[in-house]
Amino acid sequence: MASSEDKAANKESTSSWKDSFYNPRTGELLGRTASSWALILLFYLVFYCFLAGMFALTMWVMLLTLDDNVPRYRDRVPHPGLVIRPNSLDITFNKSDPQKYSHYVEHLNTFLQRYNDTEQEKNEDCRQGAYFLQEDPEETTKKVCRFKRGSLSFCSGLSDTNFGYSEGKPCVLLKMNRIIGLKPLGDPYINCTVKKESTVQMQYFPREGRIDKMYFPYYGKKAHENYVQPLVAVKLLLTKEDYNKELPVECRVEGSDLRNNDERDKFLGRVTFRVKVLE
Ligand SMILES: *[C@@H]1O[C@H](CO)[C@@H](O)[C@H](O)[C@H]1NC(C)=O
Ligand SMILES: *[C@@H]1O[C@H](CO)[C@@H](O)[C@H](O)[C@H]1NC(C)=O
Ligand SMILES: *[C@@H]1O[C@H](CO)[C@@H](O)[C@H](O)[C@H]1NC(C)=O
Repeated sequence: MASSEDKAANKESTSSWKDSFYNPRTGELLGRTASSWALILLFYLVFYCFLAGMFALTMWVMLLTLDDNVPRYRDRVPHPGLVIRPNSLDITFNKSDPQKYSHYVEHLNTFLQRYNDTEQEKNEDCRQGAYFLQEDPEETTKKVCRFKRGSLSFCSGLSDTNFGYSEGKPCVLLKMNRIIGLKPLGDPYINCTVKKESTVQMQYFPREGRIDKMYFPYYGKKAHENYVQPLVAVKLLLTKEDYNKELPVECRVEGSDLRNNDERDKFLGRVTFRVKVLE
């Protein structure tokens, strides 16, 4: 049972709490007058506007200095990865059954559309063996070096529309990932080996699996819109003894400073895939 004294004390503390929130005698709210509150609010308003203004200004200045074409902060040009077409690391098919390889053939055909002679006629006939430098910053649209589908010969899909799949000697296309500003030294070429048995013969197109320097450097998606990556085709000349076996094939970029033996990244300058042909 609460005593009357307790009640009185309770009442007093409530009223003093109320006073501290709003005191009708002085007109103070939380211990400050209305004009004092107004000053504080004004101060913070000006302060935050100033901060926002500073932020916007620095952002604007930084964006002014950015170039659309080149990533700004980059310590060195990275090394490219190697990829294959058809886009599968496990190429298995029955050479006597078109249904089992038609998707590879279609994929290669679609991929090579961009390399059609009619498309490539529009591009420059560049000087071989030299970088195609277009450093003039005024040139916002960089020219593209021509890569003709025909240079892939038996792997172009033109003379042999099945890319060798029907005869059990399949073609695989290789390309390096695009890297802005990359200028490989030396004379890069692709070398493929079958790891298990080294008796498998291979044919390379263009000759010796060369990747010409004229396709470098690449100036980025915006400036170099129609850029086409140089390709190398390798035709695996499999024979009867190679059928029905899983053959691990490794291809590497060699002859240049491009890294191809990184322990952590097994796609840097190289690619490993399996081929199995049934008959
Ligand atoms: C490959 O396809 C041919 C024709 O359809 C068929 O006779 C043969 O048994 C197939 N081979 C294998 C290993 O599936
Ligand atoms: C590319 O060439 C192939 C074979 O000549 C043809 O079938 C295809 O329609 C062409 N594609 C383009 C986009 O010109
Ligand atoms: C390709 O690689 C194999 C295995 O590393 C090597 O024996 C061969 O000499 C190389 N060929 C060329 C042309 O570099």
